[in-house]
Amino acid sequence: MTGEGEPMAANSEALKRAAAARALEEVKPGMRLGLGTGSTANAFVELLGERVRGGLDVRCVPTSEATAALAGQVGLTLATLDDMPELDLTVDGADEIGPDLALIKGGGGALLREKIVAAASGAMVVIADAAKLVGTLGRFPLPIEIVPFGAEATRRAVLRLAEAQGLKGEVRLRTRDGHVFVTDGGHFILDAGFGAIPDPAALACGLAGIAGVVEHGLFIGLATKAIVAGDGGVQVLTR
Ligand code: 5RP
Repeated sequence: MTGEGEPMAANSEALKRAAAARALEEVKPGMRLGLGTGSTANAFVELLGERVRGGLDVRCVPTSEATAALAGQVGLTLATLDDMPELDLTVDGADEIGPDLALIKGGGGALLREKIVAAASGAMVVIADAAKLVGTLGRFPLPIEIVPFGAEATRRAVLRLAEAQGLKGEVRLRTRDGHVFVTDGGHFILDAGFGAIPDPAALACGLAGIAGVVEHGLFIGLATKAIVAGDGGVQVLTR
């Protein structure tokens, strides 16, 4: 380790925090909020906690057990989506932000709850550093949440779909510390490294039709705004 990576990592953290800070401007008193998952969403949760400790009144639905734990630590009032089935705003990170604010999400393994919460929200603001902006989705392997039963059969079905759509690449069962990664919902994740995905909507449609696929990390038509922090400042993108 040369140490050369440290300033870049520190810069990346600062950019995530800058995007999170700008997203706070979207939050109004009394709002019902969805809280995303991941390091950028964590930055937002921490900043929101400061505001709440200063008197801001909001109620929040977390998209993962990890976010629930952090949100509790910083003093946020939590609710379930059953308590509050309609939300005003969700703030979440992304692995990639493509044209029309189509996203790849699920790098942190929370895509199912993230998508349910985003779909229940009047608005979804994505916060990210500029490295997440892409011209075409697919540089980041697409996470696909599947049921454990028949995981290999489902993996092969995903490969057949990809081939039929002219996509090539590896589809791997996600592991962590030598064990199969298990989501908060008790499912597995496939990471599909197809490279460029020229037609995300067609792929999303195909994946939704595969038995064993619970949900996939293509978020199309859900994000209403992206707040992206780069070295030149913070830009706000809308559809
Ligand atoms: C978790 C996600 C995250 O939003 C995504 O992985 C981005 O994470 P980070 O902000 O740590 O880069 O989709 O399922």
